[in-house]
Amino acid sequence: MAIISKETIEEVRSRSNIVEVISEYLPELRKYGGTYKCCCPFHKEKTPSFTVSNERQIYHCFGCGANGDVFSFVMEYEKIEFVGAVQILADRAGVEVVFDGGKPEKKSDKDILLKLNSEASNFYHRVLEQGKEGDVARRYMQERELPSEMIKEFQIGYAPDGWDGLLSRALKKGHKTYDLEKAGLVVQSDRSGKKSHYDRFRGRIMFPICDPMGRVIGFSGRIMNRADKGAKYVNSPETLIFKKSQILFAFDKARKSIVDCRQAIIVEGQIDAIRCHQVGILNTVASQGTALTVQHANLIKRYCDEVILVFDSDSAGVKAALATSNLFASEGLSVRVASLPPNEDPDSLIRNKGVKVFKKLIEESFGALVYLINQKRSSENQKTEVGRLRVIKAVLEYIRNIESATHRDSALKEASNILDISVEALKNDLHKVKRLSREPQPQVEDDVQKSGLIIFPKEEIELLELFVHQRDELKPLIEQYLPFNFLNNAVCRTLIESLLENKPEFLVERINELDEELRQCLTRVQIGISKKIDSEVSAESLAKGYILFFWKKELEKELKGLVKNQSLTGAEKYKEQTRLKQDLGILKFGWDKAVLMIESRLNI
Ligand code: CTP
Ligand code: MN
Repeated sequence: MAIISKETIEEVRSRSNIVEVISEYLPELRKYGGTYKCCCPFHKEKTPSFTVSNERQIYHCFGCGANGDVFSFVMEYEKIEFVGAVQILADRAGVEVVFDGGKPEKKSDKDILLKLNSEASNFYHRVLEQGKEGDVARRYMQERELPSEMIKEFQIGYAPDGWDGLLSRALKKGHKTYDLEKAGLVVQSDRSGKKSHYDRFRGRIMFPICDPMGRVIGFSGRIMNRADKGAKYVNSPETLIFKKSQILFAFDKARKSIVDCRQAIIVEGQIDAIRCHQVGILNTVASQGTALTVQHANLIKRYCDEVILVFDSDSAGVKAALATSNLFASEGLSVRVASLPPNEDPDSLIRNKGVKVFKKLIEESFGALVYLINQKRSSENQKTEVGRLRVIKAVLEYIRNIESATHRDSALKEASNILDISVEALKNDLHKVKRLSREPQPQVEDDVQKSGLIIFPKEEIELLELFVHQRDELKPLIEQYLPFNFLNNAVCRTLIESLLENKPEFLVERINELDEELRQCLTRVQIGISKKIDSEVSAESLAKGYILFFWKKELEKELKGLVKNQSLTGAEKYKEQTRLKQDLGILKFGWDKAVLMIESRLNI
C-alpha cells in the first residue's frame, strides 16, 4: 500500500495554518483573546465553544469534544480518511504529494464525483460564455437580464443540445462511463436490448449546485422556451454527494452574509436567488422547489437564528410556507413569511418594481400565524359567520400542528389577541381539529450528531493544563513528588506520564495516532488556559498546591482502606492510622513542611 511520505505530511502541515484553513470552511471564526472561536460545525450550539489555537495549531470544542490538528479537521468536516485530507491540504498549499513506494492510493468515490461535477460545470460554463452552441443560451440570458458578472459568479452554463456533448469529452479525458453515471451526468438507455449512455442534460441552461464549501455537487437544468419538450427543470438525481434534502442553492455564497445579518432569506427558484445576490441581498438561498427539511433547518441554524420565507402567493406556496414555519420553529428557528403579490416571484418583482419594493416586503414580513390569518382573511368573506369560522378553523389547525408545546402556547395567545377570542375558547376547540402527521423526514446517516464530550476530574485536568503550559519548569517537581497512580483518570495519568517523556509539540504532531480520549484531553488542556494560570501566583506554587491536594486524597483513601484491611492486627491498624492522621495534618502547613513528609514516604 502506498503511504504518503513523512516529508510531504510535514511540508503540508507547515504550509497549512490551521486558523486560515478553518476560516475558509467557517468564515465566521473570530478572534477572542489568544484564540479563535465560532459555533461548532460538529454539533448544534448557539454560543461558540469551538476554539482554534494559532499558537498550537490545534482545535478543541468545549461543547462536544471534537478536537485535533489541521488534518483531523479536514477529515471530520469532509468525512474522509487521513490520506484524503492530506491531499486536499496539499492541493490548497501547492505541495506535491510524494508517496513512499508504489502508486498513489485509489481516489475515493466522493473525490471522483466531485471532479466529474467540477469538470462538467466548467464545460457547460465555457459553452455558455464562448461556445458556438451557446448562442441561443446567451440570448436567453440577455432576455432574462442576467448579466455576465452573475453568469460568472454562479458559473451558469449551457448543456448543448446533443446526446453526448459531455459524455464524449469526458471519455476522451479518460473518465469512466460508470463514474459519469454515478455522478448523474449521463443516463443509461436500454433501447432494443443494447446498452448505451447519453447526456442527462441537453439543450438546457445549467445552474451548478454547490455544497457549503462551494464545490459543485449537482445541477439544475432549465429549458429556455415553454415550447421545448421535457420538464421545465431537470435536476441531478440523488448521488453519493448530492442530497437534495440537505442542500440549499447559493448557500456557499450566502453564508458569510447570513452570519453577518443573523438572518437567512429563502426563496424558491435559483434565478430568484441569483437576482437577489445581483441586487446586493446576499443572505439569500433557494430551496429549489423542494420541501424544506429538518436537515435544512440544522444547516441554517449553525449560522443564524432567523429565517424569512419568500414563497409564491398561490395556495401551494402558502401551504409550503406554513408547513416550513412549523417545522423550522420546532427546530428553534424564528420564522417570518413575506407575502409576494400574486403572480410575482422575487426575480420578477425586483425586475418590475425594483429592489426597494422587495426589501420593504422582507422588512414587513410577519410571523407565520399573522401571515396565515392575513391569507385566510383575504380569501374568505369576513362579513359572513361561515367565513369567520373558516379563518378560525385554519388557525386552530395550524396551532394544533405545532410540535413544541411552548410555541403552541404562545401561538394560542397571539391568535387570541388577533381574533379577539379567549385563549380558553380556542383551547377548547383545539382538540376538535385534526392533527396532521408530519411528513416522514428522510434519514441521513452522515448527519448524526456527535457528542463525545468526555468529563475529566477537575483537579487532574487543571494540573495537566498547568503542566502542558509550563512543562519544562514543572517537570522536576512533578516527576519527583507526584506518583502517577495518585491520579484517578487513566487518560490524565497517561498524559502526565507521556508529557514527562515528551514535549507537548511532539504529542501534537502525532495526534492522529492517539486514541480519541487522549486527543480530547490533550487538545483541551493545550487550548484551555484556566484563570488560575493567568493569576499572579507562580506556576510552581500552583503545581505544589495540586501535588498537596493529590497527596491529601491519597492519604485519606489509605485511611479509609485501613478499616477494611483484614491482614493487620488492631494495634498495627491503630499505629498506621495515627501516622496517616499526623501526615494529613502536616499537609495543612504548606509545601515546605509537607515536602519532608512526602520525601520520607517516597523514601527520598
Ligand atoms: N423546480 C424543479 N422542477 C420543476 C419545477 C421547478 O426543480 N419541474 C424548482 C427549480 O429549482 C425552480 C423552483 O423549483 O427554480 C421554482 O420553480 P418555478 O417557480 O417554476 O421556476 P422559477 O425559478 O421561477 O423559474 P423561472 O423564473 O425561470 O420560470
Ligand atoms: Mn421565476
